[in-house]
Amino acid sequence: MKLAPFALERYFAPREFVARAQLSCSDCEALTLDDVVAHAEAELRDAWSALRLGYSESRGHPLLRAEVAAMHPGTSVEHTITCAPAEGILLAMLSTLAAGDRVVACAPAYQSLHEIARGMGCVVDEWPWPFDLTRLTALVRARKTKLVVVNFPHNPTGHVPSVDEWHAVVAAARDAGAHLFSDEMYRFLDLTAAPPLASAVELYDKAIVLGGLSKAFSAPGLRSGWLVSRDLDVIQRCAEHKDYTTICGNGPGELLSIMVLRQRARILARNIATIRANVAALERLVPGAKGPRAGCVAFVELDDGVTALADELFRETKMLLLPSSVFGAGDRHARFGLGRAAFATTLEEFATWRAVARGSG
Ligand SMILES: Cc1ncc(COP(=O)(O)O)c(C=O)c1O
Repeated sequence: MKLAPFALERYFAPREFVARAQLSCSDCEALTLDDVVAHAEAELRDAWSALRLGYSESRGHPLLRAEVAAMHPGTSVEHTITCAPAEGILLAMLSTLAAGDRVVACAPAYQSLHEIARGMGCVVDEWPWPFDLTRLTALVRARKTKLVVVNFPHNPTGHVPSVDEWHAVVAAARDAGAHLFSDEMYRFLDLTAAPPLASAVELYDKAIVLGGLSKAFSAPGLRSGWLVSRDLDVIQRCAEHKDYTTICGNGPGELLSIMVLRQRARILARNIATIRANVAALERLVPGAKGPRAGCVAFVELDDGVTALADELFRETKMLLLPSSVFGAGDRHARFGLGRAAFATTLEEFATWRAVARGSG
């Protein structure tokens, strides 16, 4: 398999840990180890103290898989497998696709959602943002489609479909008999009173859902995620492929993941409050900006030449801003990350810098 360099990761790698301040993170403010352990039930704290650093069960800790199944009504432990989130994309693609298959995938997108299928020799047709359902249906019907790939709430645009639109996405995959890979990494961060969307796995027996602790649950460093599907053959094939990637999860990470998921009510409440305050700051400080209805990223049109702007910003101030060019999505937008505690302060500084840079401040 030949894969193109991962543009977003290559952009972040030299900058993320030398940056003084972040404007574009896709995660929510990370938890501390002490906080997670202190809030855990006694039984899990005891398990933490006694933990041996041996290999762990290859499909994941049974208690972790049980928490995951409980978050996806209509599924049970057998429908789940744990993995690092990015690994889950690889496992699912290896388990559903072969060279020559056709994939329809939302675009722009987190690069591996396209690139792995392309690298396997599949034909990837893009369903372009802004996402039009008639277009999706036409694309899926045009030729035999093996896999439909979506990601809602969407990275980088923050788009969330309405309930009817979401059902139409599922119907498009079902009518074609295609699997539906639904990247739900940004799920559970609902910012309005609208009822949350059901997970794809609740709606379709050939859906494969990716979730994880990296975004909504404030624990990207655990490298903890999962795949859920009612198609047991797919889960079996993912397990067989996992034998060639990580074999099993890291034991400490899986135990901490159980703790995090059992504390999810407090973690999500904290993150939603942070994001709402940051959306208010974004809409106040950046003319024309609009926050998302769910998730923790916003895609904002600035001027032409955002890549150059971000370069200059980084050089002069060590503030990190992600230009849309990294997603192959033109050069007029930036992704803003709304999950961090310091976002509003950083944005204030960015707005002042930008006003001066444009000669109006
Ligand atoms: C849409 C989407 N899917 C999957 C991932 C992978 O998550 P992780 O980096 O925790 O492996 C990301 C990370 O940015 C993402 O944005």
